[in-house]
Amino acid sequence: MYRFFFPVTLLVLTLIGAPAWALSNRPAGPPQAAVASAHPLATQAGLDVLAAGGNAFDAAVAVSAALAVVEPYGSGLGGGGFWLLHRAYDGKQVMVDGRERAPLAAHADLYLDGAGAVIDGASINGPRAAGIPGEPAALAHIAQHYGRLPLAVSLAPAIALARDGFEVDAHYRRWVGFRAEVLAKQAAAARQFLVDGAPPPLGHRLRQADLADTLQALAAAGRDGFYAGPVAEKLVAGVRAGGGIWTLRDLAEYQVVEREPVVVRYRDWTVTSAALPSSGGVLLAQMLNMLAAVDLAALSPPARSHLLTEVMRRAYRDRAEYLGDPDFVAMPLERLLSPTYAQRQLATISPTHATPSESLAGLAADRPGTAADPYGSGAPSGVQEGRNTTHFSVLDEEGNRVAATLSINYPFGACYVPPGTGVLLNDEMDDFVAKPGVPNAYGLVGAAANAIAPGKRPLSSMSPTFVEGPQGVALLGTPGGSRIISMVLLAMLDMAAGYTDPAHWVARGRFHHQYLPDRLQYEPGALSPRTVAALRSMGHQLDPLSTGYGNMQAVFWDRRSGKVSAASDPRGIGAARVQSVSSP
Ligand code: DON
Repeated sequence: MYRFFFPVTLLVLTLIGAPAWALSNRPAGPPQAAVASAHPLATQAGLDVLAAGGNAFDAAVAVSAALAVVEPYGSGLGGGGFWLLHRAYDGKQVMVDGRERAPLAAHADLYLDGAGAVIDGASINGPRAAGIPGEPAALAHIAQHYGRLPLAVSLAPAIALARDGFEVDAHYRRWVGFRAEVLAKQAAAARQFLVDGAPPPLGHRLRQADLADTLQALAAAGRDGFYAGPVAEKLVAGVRAGGGIWTLRDLAEYQVVEREPVVVRYRDWTVTSAALPSSGGVLLAQMLNMLAAVDLAALSPPARSHLLTEVMRRAYRDRAEYLGDPDFVAMPLERLLSPTYAQRQLATISPTHATPSESLAGLAADRPGTAADPYGSGAPSGVQEGRNTTHFSVLDEEGNRVAATLSINYPFGACYVPPGTGVLLNDEMDDFVAKPGVPNAYGLVGAAANAIAPGKRPLSSMSPTFVEGPQGVALLGTPGGSRIISMVLLAMLDMAAGYTDPAHWVARGRFHHQYLPDRLQYEPGALSPRTVAALRSMGHQLDPLSTGYGNMQAVFWDRRSGKVSAASDPRGIGAARVQSVSSP
């Protein structure tokens, strides 16, 4: 029935005097809609809401909420994220920042002991590790300002999935097994995600009645259904009972922020990506500015990998030194984003030798640099995969677009559920710098710009991105902690090099450098033996990974051929679907 909303609006506007956009110059939309997400049930939720007359923004609400239910290891109502929106009728592009905020009682030394040392696990496990969630507010905001459907309709698939359950698959079992020990320590979390204290068997139907009720409260009352009233009271009581520091004021004062995305030109392409407090857009812009004058296609594979590694090293160095929440810190963004600075940086790259990270100016000298094992030495093999946190991309037939990357940070976040809410808390506080120079779970170091302060947002790497050029427009992103930004760079460079099939970008081999530790990580097969040998002889310290990483979800609308295609990373279990919605 909602399909009639838009035509009726148009008719009324025509009668009362429509704005120009409503009558003319409306860009022609793509012939089909597309949804790519990390879980087939979430992709289906998006398609269902499109079929109910929703636009891409309504579908994004549906996909986000469904992922909160079926991928509890990746994102959820207890977490946050960034939703990059493009509205077709006026071309408005905005990033809805639903990033978590530090509680108002937080302070720079929150995770330090009396001797000033970082307390092991304090920013990872339990409610003290949790920032104030932003996802529920972001969903309400997107529905209210950009969607066509009431929240009750967009949230209906997620509510049904929470209430009726979904079947546990091998992927869920693997992640829940990884965090079972911590989940088992809290009764509410154990009850929701384990069976008799252990990972549920394959095919077990996981029902989350409390979560269904909380989603229902959000559907009925909008953001107040979560940030005020009984749900808020249960959240705060549960957090404080577990030693956390939230107050009702923290929830009442949480606000999403609409931010202007970072836009950078790279040859014929315009790249639109995440604004701060994600470092993604700034780092992509810096790297693309450095690469602008280079003919990558003319380079041999070893020379190309070397150059990209050095470019990554330099951009991540600036991340560590300068970046943080723009509402709290002044940053030299004009300088960082200037082409002149990029050219000067490029000039420091030797074509034949790796630059030792310690030799780059700035904070490097103070940084210890540790082995980058984002899950600690106790991690079972195969968990460095960067497949928790989640990304999805949606394109509708009007040409509206959403690319969104959402997180509760570590798998299953803080492994803590305030009783009676079904809301699994994030541990996004670990994305702050607990102490200058001490790496976080992703091996990232940082400085005062990303220190903890009351109400501040932790610096992120999540990089939902649009890439638009003469041939068409791509929507993409991925989880993967610190490696997110280099994955998006590699994918978009492939696109700029003429590979317009998203299946290529999501499957391509990946490599990564993040300044510290001074290691070049690469997936099995991503670099040929010849390239590996050449890089080693240039002085790179190579770190071959035993498994792949990332879980990219991409859509491409080829404006020349009119074709829409979508792809889901073969490393994950997601589903990408292209479908005619208006005329099935
Ligand atoms: O915001 C960030 O950058 C991190 N919390 C994202 C974590 C992540 O991607 C984990 N993925 N495997």
